[in-house]
Amino acid sequence: MTKLIIFTDLHMVPEGTTIIGLDPYQRLANGIEHVNRYHADAERVIFTGDLTHYGDRGSYERLKRLIDQLIPPSAITIGNHDRREVFLDVFTDAETDTGGFVQQAIDFPDCRAILLDTLFAPPYDYPNSHAGLLCAKRLAWLDRQLADAANKPALLFMHHPPHRTGFSGMDLIRLANEAEFYECIKRHPNVRHIFAGHVHRTISGSSRGIPFSIFKSPVHQQPMPFDAPDASLSVDEPAAYGIAVVTEDGVLVHTEDYEIARRDATVA
Ligand SMILES: [Fe+2]
Repeated sequence: MTKLIIFTDLHMVPEGTTIIGLDPYQRLANGIEHVNRYHADAERVIFTGDLTHYGDRGSYERLKRLIDQLIPPSAITIGNHDRREVFLDVFTDAETDTGGFVQQAIDFPDCRAILLDTLFAPPYDYPNSHAGLLCAKRLAWLDRQLADAANKPALLFMHHPPHRTGFSGMDLIRLANEAEFYECIKRHPNVRHIFAGHVHRTISGSSRGIPFSIFKSPVHQQPMPFDAPDASLSVDEPAAYGIAVVTEDGVLVHTEDYEIARRDATVA
């Protein structure tokens, strides 16, 4: 059994800054305390990008101070709000592939976790760079990691969902080369689940027969309705992280809204 905690879309900001009145530092600090309290036995805490809001060095340094407080080991990849060079400059021990992308494969006894770098940059050309991309080099690396998994169940972790989620604004900035991505992973029958972020909403289902889970952010969330006129609108809903448990029968996925509970568990 392998237990993985997933945080996505942390959007760390410079000190004294908030997002729609919310403090990303405090929100994540509460989440890390919650994980240390209830899931100190997790094999990894995986961060799936949008680590910072502006990609600035100070925000990465603030984030690193928090992540260093985790009891379980961490594994990190980046999203469209990140700057790859700045991230790697601060997180000097971060894993990358041989091409310098923030990608890694982690083997556990019962599965292989593969973290993908879907940042469509440099150049940092917004709004185009808000969409995701897995270039030919990154897809070739993924292809090898899946082949090398030797039929172990493979779990993919990536910032951008590789398919539509129903939020029309966010769907415009999903993974740009969706067809190539699925063409690659469908060659490998061991892909069991895709975990993503980017949308700031709890969404699950399947695409091309492959199950997926998307988690809320610890900070601001995506408002309903599906066709909001402004894709940058956010709402203040409780912070969350995800929990994936690999069992001998499959994969269990939980969502932990860690700021909702007002008291410890008591007898009802
Ligand atoms: Fe985000």
